[in-house]
Amino acid sequence: MRQQTTKIPVSSIILDETIYPRKGIDHRRVGIFSENIRDGFTFDPIEVELAPDRPNMYRLLDGAHRWNAYKSTGAAEVEAIVKNLEGDDPLLYAAKKAIGPRQLTEEEARDTARRAYTGNSSLSSVDIGKAIGRARRTVDEYIADLRAVKLMDRNIKIFCMHRLGIPQDRMAKRLGMDQKTIHYRLGKMAAPPNSLNSDLSKGFTVAQVAQKHGWTDPMVWSLSLEGKSDRDRFRELGWGLRTWDKWEWNDCDKRFGDEWPGRIPAQLAAHILKYFSKPGDLILDPMAGGGVTPDTCLALDRRCWSFDMIDRLETRPEIEPFTWDTSSGQQLSWPVSSKEKPDLILFDPPYFDKKAADYDEKSISNLPKKEYLEFLETFFVLMKSNVKKKTRLAFINADWRDFQHTPASEEKYKSGILIDDYLDILKRTGWYHTHIIQAPMSSQRFNAGVVSAMQKKNILGVVSRYVIILNQEE
Ligand SMILES: C[S@@+](CC[C@H](N)C(=O)[O-])C[C@H]1O[C@@H](n2cnc3c(N)ncnc32)[C@H](O)[C@@H]1O
Repeated sequence: MRQQTTKIPVSSIILDETIYPRKGIDHRRVGIFSENIRDGFTFDPIEVELAPDRPNMYRLLDGAHRWNAYKSTGAAEVEAIVKNLEGDDPLLYAAKKAIGPRQLTEEEARDTARRAYTGNSSLSSVDIGKAIGRARRTVDEYIADLRAVKLMDRNIKIFCMHRLGIPQDRMAKRLGMDQKTIHYRLGKMAAPPNSLNSDLSKGFTVAQVAQKHGWTDPMVWSLSLEGKSDRDRFRELGWGLRTWDKWEWNDCDKRFGDEWPGRIPAQLAAHILKYFSKPGDLILDPMAGGGVTPDTCLALDRRCWSFDMIDRLETRPEIEPFTWDTSSGQQLSWPVSSKEKPDLILFDPPYFDKKAADYDEKSISNLPKKEYLEFLETFFVLMKSNVKKKTRLAFINADWRDFQHTPASEEKYKSGILIDDYLDILKRTGWYHTHIIQAPMSSQRFNAGVVSAMQKKNILGVVSRYVIILNQEE
């Protein structure tokens, strides 16, 4: 059946190299095609699809030489079939079309197979082979190393999630694998830790071993510190243990957690874990962001279930995607149904609307003040009904004052949210504080120009941040 064609402007078409299977354009062939066009010869229509992220533009799927020939003859429009690939891989589709008139060279076939597999590791060698005109076994050879890395990647993910105590059914769901495979792979996983341990015992640093084996630093720390006490772990990690209730650091420890708006220092998470949990305990972080909590739990041998609305499967499989949602009057729900309950919840939500521009639009940082406080109240109630009687809560938050726009003496009680407002809500919902620990943010984040402007306007900034430890007994 002839497909429907349409005339589109030659200038609205682009050659997207990421889905072009050939090494380059054969200019001799373009020259011949141009002559044919001038002689009145009509070619088959070219094939395009809508270009992603480029409104009103199309990218070529088939006909790069014809399109170049039309361009060189000065044609304004070209006959085209606008395809909807409905999820099919565009690079493979383009390759299948390209081999019609002329097979791909060895280099082009190899490169296309590798690019296609890198973009989508669920493609089979048979499918890739059909598209590029090669046998399955040849494709297997082309992508053998990539497949090995992918497999290793998967094993690392499984190992990390297992180490954090995430149940196998949730691992299976998260990684899109069946539970039997996860179980089987875990059984076979004694070998990789051995080779890492042997590198560590040869004197390589944690960072070197992590890089060599493609593991994350925190995972290697979890191996290298195995069997050690909390105090020894602090010592080896270079975290001076604070003995008093003021925890202050100039910098985040870059080894733990990703660059993330509102990231807390791993040292802060580590002190909460050290004082208010024990090795093997289950820690829950409902808004885990850049992953400081799970990373620190690996270093201190705690299990950890963490959630965030931002889904980063490739780099953070252990942070399960979940949005705490009260919009449109919805009931807040708990992300997991499990008999196992956390021993400690480490809750570091956005501090009202601070950094709102950096978070997703559904983040609670976009709620007006009243709704933000109502959300927390609903959340504390929900937490209470999903934890054990003995579960503790470490709630991190800061005084929120409108200091950027108002001189100190003109600030109003009603326009701020201070830490006692949170304490009121917590008490109302059955959470009673035992400690209020000062953990100020570093004032180094303000540059000299900002400081000088603040001083001129008599503005008193906020660096306060508190860790409030609560339990459920009055
Ligand atoms: C202050 S950050 C957490 C930072 C984290 N402790 C770290 O050190 O990287 C708050 C996090 O809450 C998440 N968040 C905000 N509203 C949410 C919601 N309704 N459901 C799930 N996550 C939410 C944001 O995506 C953000 O990552």
